[in-house]
Amino acid sequence: MEIVNTISDMKALRRRVSESVGFVPTMGYLHEGHLSLVRQARNENSTAVVSIFVNPTQFGPAEDLNKYPRDLDRDISLLQHVETDILFLPKGEEIYPKEFDSWVEVLGITDRLEGMIRPGHFRGVTTVVSKLFNIVEPTCAYFGQKDAQQAKAIEKMVRDLNINVKITVGPTVRETDGLAMSSRNSYLNQQERQAATILYKTLQLSEALWQAGETNAEVIKNKMIALIDQEPLAVIDYVSIADDRTLHEFTEIAGPALVSLAVRIGHTRLIDNLMLK
Ligand code: PAF
Repeated sequence: MEIVNTISDMKALRRRVSESVGFVPTMGYLHEGHLSLVRQARNENSTAVVSIFVNPTQFGPAEDLNKYPRDLDRDISLLQHVETDILFLPKGEEIYPKEFDSWVEVLGITDRLEGMIRPGHFRGVTTVVSKLFNIVEPTCAYFGQKDAQQAKAIEKMVRDLNINVKITVGPTVRETDGLAMSSRNSYLNQQERQAATILYKTLQLSEALWQAGETNAEVIKNKMIALIDQEPLAVIDYVSIADDRTLHEFTEIAGPALVSLAVRIGHTRLIDNLMLK
């Protein structure tokens, strides 16, 4: 695996690869969710590139940028195991030089859910992802379904701006008790880790109700909220049942629906989602 730290080195390496490049952008502290995307990138392309960059512009002022978990040595060894070809580790000063003044913003679907609670978050994501796309020039890029709204914003950006990258969204990878893998799970103490299983249990409840014939989104959401309220460590940011295409809230579930939630367990904010279709 070649490790590159500068934009010019990454571009020079890219010029040497004429066949397809699969790209997995990450913020590091890798887990099986990331590695499954790297394996897919590896299988579907001749070269697999991963970036690790904890992107400051997608964190709000009161968020966890400074304490975001980092372990580069461990990440490098995990990436070697899944046969990554190139690891791009750009520096903050090079991605955002002093005079940096340009932003990429997707409107509409980013106003809702995560966008409501984390203003500016998606602008940071789409800006850094478009910069990374311009530097790495991937054929295909891989994102996880756990961050469903992020994946939709990136798909929309690629469509709207005619960016020549095929976006693939890989399934959420879960722990054996259902908790979606996330770098932020490392913040949880033992008691909180147990409490965090409420997210997937609540998503499963929505699925069971829907499968039993319930299509009224308010009825399902109220039952989901009641279940989360039984967990003393959990505080709800939102519970949503939305049209999977537009992310507008459903009143009646009338097509493919994205059930998503954001819940705080202690100081840790977790998100998860599931599709009803
Ligand atoms: O999902 C992430 O880890 C980040 O939002 C991404 C896509 C790497 C952009 O910083």
